[in-house]
Amino acid sequence: MYRAPKGTFDILPYGEGEPWQKTSLWHWLEQEARTLASSYGYGEIRTPVYESKELFDRGVGDTSDIVTKEMFVFQDKGHRALALRPEGTSSVIRAFLQAHLAQLQAPHKLFYIEPMFRYERPQSGRYRQHHQFGVELIGSPSPEADAEVIELLFRYYERLGIPLIELHLNSVGDLPSRHSFRSALLDILTPVHHLLSPDSQSRLEKNPLRILDSKAEEDQPFLDKIPPILNFLSPASKDHFQKVQELLQELAIPFHINPRIVRGLDYYQHTVFEMVVQDTFGNKSIGGGGRYDGLVKTFQGPDLPAVGFGTGLERIAQVILNQSSKKIPESQIDAYFIPLGKQAQHRALILASKCRTHQLSADVHFNVNKINQALTHGETKRARYFVFLGDEELSKQTLQIRHALSKDRREIQESELISLLTTPA
Ligand code: HAM
Repeated sequence: MYRAPKGTFDILPYGEGEPWQKTSLWHWLEQEARTLASSYGYGEIRTPVYESKELFDRGVGDTSDIVTKEMFVFQDKGHRALALRPEGTSSVIRAFLQAHLAQLQAPHKLFYIEPMFRYERPQSGRYRQHHQFGVELIGSPSPEADAEVIELLFRYYERLGIPLIELHLNSVGDLPSRHSFRSALLDILTPVHHLLSPDSQSRLEKNPLRILDSKAEEDQPFLDKIPPILNFLSPASKDHFQKVQELLQELAIPFHINPRIVRGLDYYQHTVFEMVVQDTFGNKSIGGGGRYDGLVKTFQGPDLPAVGFGTGLERIAQVILNQSSKKIPESQIDAYFIPLGKQAQHRALILASKCRTHQLSADVHFNVNKINQALTHGETKRARYFVFLGDEELSKQTLQIRHALSKDRREIQESELISLLTTPA
């Protein structure tokens, strides 16, 4: 039997899959994201699942784990080097520039709900295909833009009823701040560079800041000696960060300053943040983002500042099932037809079609074998009424109706069906 590729999964309307893989839950997560993002003035953008590999090399950074270890890279028949999108920001900025949106009045507010691909070791909350709800606010350098983006993400979790969210906030500063931090890093790490992990040794040459991402045990004693990046912020960066904190306080969004948050993508400047929840599996980062003022220019666009976030829907879906008190809306079927015999099946098809012209949902169970199995299937689909018809009903033009919850049964005239179904039970 074929199986979904390692690290991927299916989302199904019913059946024996994991509860977080149910379509109704995903519809709800997506619907809430769309409604909320639209209420802040964000418009939805959809970009291709693959892009040129170079876009991510330059955007995410060719020393990041995502680019060096996790990208799904392939060549098309024209020998172009392509990559399945590992994240949304680079694609959105590429599309933004390609469509000449930069010529229109800033700021630009875009959101997306799309699959991303990273070749990671699959484990709980970590997949090779995952889905992100993300927003990008392009064209504003103001701390208010950072605060708006963080607020939007925080309110999203609130709407979904996720309790105990912790916002971890940091600043990685502007280019001058990063420059002085980089010198301090080199001073501390160059003398001991032969004791670092091979990955960190190569990063020390190419991109020393990435060393802070290292999980290698041999690096940890040295990482502990590195002073927080906040000590190196330029006056402009300090000011920006201070203002973001004041705004969050005023919006009543609690946060912790966490100087170890540097994020795994190279494009960040100034504010960076992660949203962490305590789950049965420990601390889980369910969303993250920050300001990335240099990226539009890196992609040969104008020098436009930007800020955004991405949040993983798989992780949210799992946390919701463990922690949220919200009732997840499920779709219903108004009439579930169980026809007995060929003639009845023919008639059921016509009656179901008539129901739908009255804005009712109707489903016909074809080829009924055992009535009990048909009933169970209708219950799975959350039928409001079961409608039975056989030869006898056909000859009298009647129907046997059963209310799914009360189990009340009665016989009605076919002509009464629509008015019965449109009357609230
Ligand atoms: P990121 O932190 O790499 O940021 O990913 C955002 C979120 O995607 C994570 O917080 C996590 O919930 C989810 N995620 C990432 N990798 C996986 C995985 N392998 N399996 C399941 N979930 C995963 C970005 O991608 C940036 N583009 C966010 C951003 C937008 N920054 C500015 N604008």
